Amino acid sequence: MIRPTTPDDMEPLIALADATGLFGPNELEELGEILGGYFGGNIDSDHFWITDDDGGPVGVAYYAPAPMTDGTWYVYLIAVRPDRQGQGHGTALLRYVEETLTARGERILLVETSGLASFEGTRAFYRKCGYDEEARIRDFYKAGDDKIVYRKELVAQGK
Ligand SMILES: CC(C)(COP(=O)(O)OP(=O)(O)OC[C@H]1O[C@@H](n2cnc3c(N)ncnc32)[C@H](O)[C@@H]1OP(=O)(O)O)[C@@H](O)C(=O)NCCC(=O)NCCS
Repeated sequence: MIRPTTPDDMEPLIALADATGLFGPNELEELGEILGGYFGGNIDSDHFWITDDDGGPVGVAYYAPAPMTDGTWYVYLIAVRPDRQGQGHGTALLRYVEETLTARGERILLVETSGLASFEGTRAFYRKCGYDEEARIRDFYKAGDDKIVYRKELVAQGK
């Protein structure tokens, strides 16, 4: 079941992010601060955290508008607990984001990831979900580690 993230999710979600191996100690701390700010009401109300709950949090996504755009949004974070990956949870989270934004009349969803070989699974996931590679910024994260921007146009059902 996908539902809004609650303060009780903070600890399991930080553990989940840690378990993916994608986040260093500083980034995990930053994640805790972002979530703390979110629940403290310190950030814009059109920033959204959602949890995929299947007997406890198994996945998380964070999405928000791209600044200074009309209807362009970013998925800033999506992660599924390693022992629950490959079971459709990531797809369900992304679909929920897409449907929610489409219903609001938003236009475009962007997501960024690394071009490193170790992220090929993540890139395959975005392609499978209908995202096209739109841009590549060479050496963005560090020398030899490009940023790839994936894009999907949000189209209302029946259009
Ligand atoms: C990327 C991630 C969110 C995908 O979530 P998931 O629940 O594992 O994905 P799904 O089960 O919905 O997969 C849907 C499709 O994506 C593709 N896919 C997902 N992971 C893949 C992998 N490691 N290698 C190849 N293809 C993959 C598959 O084609 C799959 O389709 P299939 O079920 O027909 O095989 C998840 O694997 C994850 O959290 N990874 C670590 C964190 C991460 O990389 N986050 C993104 C940071 S930019």
